[in-house]
Order: sequence, then structure tokens, then C-alpha cells
Amino acid sequence: MRRTAEWYGGDDRNSYIHRAWMRRGLPADAFDGRPHIAMANTASDLTPCNAHLNEVSRSVADGIHQAGGIALNLPVVSLGETQVRPTAMLWRNMAAMAIEEMLRANPIDGVVLLGGCDKTIPALLMAAASVDIPAVVVPGGPMLTGTFRGVPLGCGTGVWQLSEEVRAGTMSAAEFVRSESSMIRSRGHCNTMGTASTMGLLAEVLGMTLPGIAGTPAPDSRLLEAAHATGVLAVELVDAERRPSQVLTRASFLNAIVALAALGGSTNAVVHLLAIAGRLGIELTQDDFDRVGSGVPLLVDLQPAGRFLMDDLYRAGGLHAVLREVRDLLDPAALTVTGQPLVSYLDDARVYDREVIRAREEPLQPEAGIAVLYGNLAPDGAVIKPSAASAHLLKHRGRAVVFETIEEFHAKIDDESLDIDENCVMVLKNCGPKGYPGMAEVGNMPLPPKVLRKGITDMVRISDARMSGTAYGTVVLHTSPEAAAGGPLALVQNGDMIELDVPARRLHVEVSDEEFARRRADWKPLEAPKRGWQKLYVDHVQQAHLGADLDFLVGASGAGIPRDSH
Ligand code: FES
Repeated sequence: MRRTAEWYGGDDRNSYIHRAWMRRGLPADAFDGRPHIAMANTASDLTPCNAHLNEVSRSVADGIHQAGGIALNLPVVSLGETQVRPTAMLWRNMAAMAIEEMLRANPIDGVVLLGGCDKTIPALLMAAASVDIPAVVVPGGPMLTGTFRGVPLGCGTGVWQLSEEVRAGTMSAAEFVRSESSMIRSRGHCNTMGTASTMGLLAEVLGMTLPGIAGTPAPDSRLLEAAHATGVLAVELVDAERRPSQVLTRASFLNAIVALAALGGSTNAVVHLLAIAGRLGIELTQDDFDRVGSGVPLLVDLQPAGRFLMDDLYRAGGLHAVLREVRDLLDPAALTVTGQPLVSYLDDARVYDREVIRAREEPLQPEAGIAVLYGNLAPDGAVIKPSAASAHLLKHRGRAVVFETIEEFHAKIDDESLDIDENCVMVLKNCGPKGYPGMAEVGNMPLPPKVLRKGITDMVRISDARMSGTAYGTVVLHTSPEAAAGGPLALVQNGDMIELDVPARRLHVEVSDEEFARRRADWKPLEAPKRGWQKLYVDHVQQAHLGADLDFLVGASGAGIPRDSH
């Protein structure tokens, strides 16, 4: 029996009330058992990357109606990555929880999930996985390539590069401001291989989209065509009773890890994929990213690891062309929402520009996936994206320059008297899930001006923070346990020697166990938030290596509702 039958199917007073309040233009046959499909829509003027989703949702609605369903707009919590403070990740779990509850509470048989900006697709997928009603994602798509000074300006990555030029004194502040409107050329999310692009593409690799839709630029009319087809598909999903738990399997997550490496995707995908898998009880660990992905070659020449941008990837053949290159590494059993395996959609894929999508035999880098490091500085692991790092720094030993907080970092980094050079290792504490709180994207600390002036653009940096998917550098992230949870990172001091050895997967600080014990006796935890969401979050957030979900949100509650108050 459909869920909506529980609301509308009877002839008693309760069914009367449920139907009557929905009859604002809906005909009587809207309640004859046809599927009601919500469009969980993260469109918001304050989430500029998703602002166009109202138009996209109209195409979805047309498709739902064409297939005989009822389309219902469901605005949900939206997170504008660049707008919300202190960091959007603080609310990924809140958005997921709110969306989950609204999907469960409302009379719907299925849902189309409309997202784009970084946290929105992860939150939607976490919610849909926990409710486990038929669901399909429409990724909002990337913006078109902007140009500045005659060359493409990648959104996000371009900002990092230009701001470093300003800090190095090679670009004026006025010219920097002039670049703003050049960078954001159209509707859509960031057009580098940042987190939004990564998660939109991985939503398709996981099997949760109409095959072929991911990566379609937001202003491209083919996105509306695919959105329409997704509406039709949503009705078919309800008819087939195909649920996220049938699509999101360990096989589909391992395929996503392969794709993440081949695409050169964001390190943020680690915490998002772990959190989505956690909602379904799928055994997925941080080590799976290294074991399955680290040997996969980087095939896509997109910023921040390379040169091009998302509409170049689409023009060059798109996601399917990339996946075809690594087809032998994909699990053929992993299904999509259509009921067909992902790999069955790759036969016709072609590469139209070998500059953008490399052949397997001529990769940009032979081994591109996330590496997971362990050692006395990271007992539960830390991650690094070697494809965004400098090869000469992947094995490095240097003197720690420690910043206890991001505020201390900002206060000191431009000070010419700061005792730091390019061989040092910058260490930032208290920016993890509990420490910031919200695990901010501050791990790619800007370099000190006196180092930049030498023409040096990278140093080893270590933190418990995340890094924007549009950023680059030899940046060790997600160090776990984090400093605020009493991890060894909290005990590192200025002058300690730190050894990074990515090939050996080692992150070690040359401090004896006795000295660590002495320092630990003096360590004091941060003052915890006292009320509201931040208190709930800090009390319950899990560490990065587990996906940074709240402990009580791990798992699923299904779609059932035991009580009705009418
Ligand atoms: Fe929205 Fe980058 S700010 S995707």
C-alpha cells in the first residue's frame, strides 16, 4: 500500500481533513491512489548556487504530472556555502535531520531531491537514506566558465590564486575586486572539481540520479530536459517500490571511491560518503578510500588539480566517458534508480577532448585517490589528496609552527617577525567537528607573505579542519581524534619536528610518550557551547573518520509513523 493511502485512502473524518486541506486546485482524482511526489527543493536566494532550482523543479513537476503523479513543492533547509557563518558544515546534519523528518511526516510516496551547493546533496541523500522512500537526485549543475584578463577563472580555485597574488604584492586590491563579477558568470554551483561538482557527480555514480544528468551545466537547456525525465522516473520508482537501500550498497560506494579518484574530487567527499553510508548501516571506512581509490589514476584535468572547468568536462564527454576509462574497476552489480546497473550506461560513452579526459594509459597522475595517514599524530587517521599536493613535499620533515586557533593564525600569519620558513610545518588546532565547531574549511592555511615573496606557493600544513574542494596544496586534513576531543594534535608545540611520509602513509611527531603524557596532564578542553544547535552538535558529533554525523542520526528509522493526532 502507498504511504499516501494512509492519509487519503479512507472515508472517515481524518481522511476528509487530509484531502480537504490539499484541495486547492487539485482535482478529486488526485486522491485516487496516484503517487504523490515531493520535490525537496533547496532553492534559496541565500544559497545562490541553488537559486535556479525553482525553474528546474517546474520541469520535474511537468514530468511527474506527465507520468500520472502529483508533484508537490517541499522547500527544505538550504545551506549557501559562501554565505552562512561560521561554516556550512555545522548545519549539514541539521539540514539532513530536518529534511528526514519532513519526508517522513508528510503524505508523500516518493521524493525528487534538488540540490547543488556543497552540503545540499549530502544532506538530501542522508535524509532520503534514513527514510528510505523512493528517491532520485537532480543535481543543479555547475556554472559556466568565467574569464578574467583573457583566461578562464575557476570559481573558488581562482579566488585562492588571486588572493595569494594580492598577498604576494603582484596584484592590486582594486584589480582583485574587479575579478569578482568575472568569476561568477551564470547560475549554478562552483565550476571547479570542488565539493559541489564532486557530490553531484558521485550522486550519479552512487546510482541515485537519472543516468547522464550529472555535470550538466546549470544554464544548459539539457538540464531541464533531464529534470523532466527525472519527474517521469520518480513516478516509475514509486510504482516499482525501488528505494535508496536497494541502490545505495557497499558496491555503489566503492564505485564512488573509484570515481572520486579518477575525477580528482574533493576530500570533503570522504566525510559525506561515510555519513550517507552510515545512514544505511553500510560498512564503509576511511581506509576503504585509500585501499580502493589510492591506486586509481587521475584522468580529469580540472581545477584545482589541473586546468579545465566543469563545462569543459561536460563538452569532453562527461562523467560516463570518465567512468568508461575505469570500467574494469567498477562493480558491475551496483544498480541505479532505473533498476539497471551503472556500468550498463557506459557503452556509448565517448571522449571528445583528450586534453580534458585523459586515457587510462596517459593519466595526469598514476595514483590519485585520497591517502589515509596514521601515526602518533593521527591514531584514527588523517587524509591528504596527493593529486592536489606538491610532489616534493609528499615526504617531508619540518619544524612545527603551531596555531592554537584560526583566530591566532590570522593574527600572526602576516607578522614578519613570525619564526617560519618554507621548510616548516604549519599546524592548526581546534578546527575539527567539535572544536570549531563544524569542522570549517580552513585547513589550506594561506602561506606567510615572506615565504610567498620567495615565489614559494606550497608548504606542509596539518589540521583537524576540512579544506574547500576548490583548494590545493600539501594539506593534511581531518586529523582524528581532533584537538578539541583530546587528540594528540592538541599536544603539539612550536619546535616539535613532524614527519610526513605519504608513500608510507605516516604522520609522526617526534615527541616521546613520556613527554606527551606530561603535556596531556596540562591540557584543558575548550569551553563547550551551552545551548541550542551548537550544544546538541558538539555533544553528539562523531569524529571525521566516521563521517562527522551526529551519533543518534546514524542508521535509519524508515518511513513509518506510528501515530496520527487527528
Ligand atoms: Fe556553492 Fe561553491 S559556493 S558550490
